[in-house]
Amino acid sequence: MPTMRSRVPRKLLWVVGALLLTLLLVGCGKDLPQNTFDPAGPTAQSEKDVLIVPLIIAGIVFIGVEGGIVFLALKFRHRKGKDRIPSQLHGNTRLELGWTVAPAVLLAVVMVPAISLIWRLADVPPNSMQITVQGYQWWWGFQYMDADMQVAYGDHGPITTADVLVIPAGQTIDLSLRSEGGGAHSTNGTPDHMVIHSFWAPRLFGKQDVVPGAAGEDNHIVFSAWEPGVYWGQCAEFCGLQHAMMKFRIIALDANDWANWVQARKQPSPTPSPGSDAQKGMQVFFGQGPAGVGGGQCIACHSIGGTAAVSTAAPNLSDFADPTHVCFAGCDFDTFVPGPDGRLQPNYPALQAWLENPDAVKLGAKMPDYNLSQQQIQYLMAYLYSLS
Ligand code: CUA
Repeated sequence: MPTMRSRVPRKLLWVVGALLLTLLLVGCGKDLPQNTFDPAGPTAQSEKDVLIVPLIIAGIVFIGVEGGIVFLALKFRHRKGKDRIPSQLHGNTRLELGWTVAPAVLLAVVMVPAISLIWRLADVPPNSMQITVQGYQWWWGFQYMDADMQVAYGDHGPITTADVLVIPAGQTIDLSLRSEGGGAHSTNGTPDHMVIHSFWAPRLFGKQDVVPGAAGEDNHIVFSAWEPGVYWGQCAEFCGLQHAMMKFRIIALDANDWANWVQARKQPSPTPSPGSDAQKGMQVFFGQGPAGVGGGQCIACHSIGGTAAVSTAAPNLSDFADPTHVCFAGCDFDTFVPGPDGRLQPNYPALQAWLENPDAVKLGAKMPDYNLSQQQIQYLMAYLYSLS
């Protein structure tokens, strides 16, 4: 009679085991940017605290139950020449009561801190900064809704950024989460679908769904960052082709940097000097490129502070070259990369590839390919890297 051992080659077992162990271990590492166990603010800290207790209880239960199974399986395994069947038990009231009541008690114990935290996290302190998070396919937009966060030009609307959420360290933030989409934001001929995203910056707060709906139906996240720093986040709900690349950064600034940032954001974007490449790029952006160069259609979807470009269908580019705008296109690309001397410089290769053929570098991206010429792209890049 063939035994288990002869049917599954031992080598294969080792390979599968090693693969599983590798998968387990890739989750370990120091200084990873999205580590739930390394909280950087009170919301993530209390969520971690509430996670630890059931994790320890579950660990003890796991070791007890699995250990028991392995022990019994080894002790009473089939041996050659021993064909006796162990005595069969049916029904042990005490045992059955025990393993029904014990988990119920454990769950009740775990439930108390978890539910009280849910209530506590829903509290919005009166001095919270109000920011609306907009989930698009596939990038994040941020609007600063407080009265003192309006721009000093045009319709005096809220300061708006994309891909990077800049906040003052230590300040409690109340995020209103909303999924945008539908015909009004149709780009590239296909409407953005009304999909559900999930907003998650593991070191600052847990996941929260971002659903389509009217104002007032938004989900909320209340959080703050203890220290200035760069915190990574990403969409945590499958929302289409570029879901995995729907990332963002939260940058917490100290009081001084924050004041400067707000001041800069309230002003119109700088106008390039006449005759410069940046100015030609501005003309391309607005669809009226210089003679022999021709225009693009960027103005149809993007907005740039203080100019005629006011569409909200695509990321607001007013702060494209601001040092805080560390990434673009769903944070798929770094805006600045270290040069040969180690200092940060514009990431022209990434921006060039993105403008040349958006779909080639981000499959399914909704930025249309306008078949821009190399000359147009050079000018556009000069313009974008002049915006800060
Ligand atoms: Cu948005 Cu996944």
